[in-house]
Amino acid sequence: MDGSYDRIAPIYDLIDLPFEWLYYRNMRKRWIGSLRKQKVLEIGVGTGKNLGYYHPSNKVTAIDRSRGMLAIAAKRLKKLRASNIKLSYQADLPWSLPQDFTVAVATFVLCTMQNPLPVLEEIGLHLKSGGKLIIFEFGRSNRPFLFKVEKAINPLTKKLFGVDFDRKPTIEMLGSGWSIQSINWNLKDMIYQAVIQKD
Ligand SMILES: C[S@@+](CC[C@H](N)C(=O)[O-])C[C@H]1O[C@@H](n2cnc3c(N)ncnc32)[C@H](O)[C@@H]1O
Repeated sequence: MDGSYDRIAPIYDLIDLPFEWLYYRNMRKRWIGSLRKQKVLEIGVGTGKNLGYYHPSNKVTAIDRSRGMLAIAAKRLKKLRASNIKLSYQADLPWSLPQDFTVAVATFVLCTMQNPLPVLEEIGLHLKSGGKLIIFEFGRSNRPFLFKVEKAINPLTKKLFGVDFDRKPTIEMLGSGWSIQSINWNLKDMIYQAVIQKD
């Protein structure tokens, strides 16, 4: 889509509900929940599904370019009463944000972009050297049957969310300046989680 999520914001959580309960929440708990004492930049916070997993010792700035998604994240944040998290509307690059984050988080965001490289470059500018980027992303499954399923739903996922299963995974597009620390595949190789370090 590479555009705005405003249209689907009111139903986004509903569409995502089965996957959230079956898979995503465990991934969020494990990877977001383990962060401590980090200065975190969350890119594409959406409706704020990661917000409840951040430990109070983190200082989090969570951005999005959809006001509709941010409005739902704001309601979630109000309920959480987490004063260590702030939301910020950032429509375009470059982002007007500090350049000293120790961790960046992008869950199901980079895979919604046909070309994530400018955003990756921008993330690099705001991370300290040695800082880490945590990605959750949909990718092409290595299992032939599931790849067929992905191909079949591709027109819909592209239109609704911008997710194109034909596109190379972001971890295969990284240029110099980044090193992959770990990759874990989930949901029968349809989703991966990666930790990437800025050199
Ligand atoms: C599929 S949703 C994922 C939301 C959330 N991260 C999650 O895990 O549920 C993608 C979100 O990324 C946002 N987004 C996409 N490109 C962006 C960009 N360049 N800057 C900021 N937000 C962006 C969209 O507006 C949308 O809210």
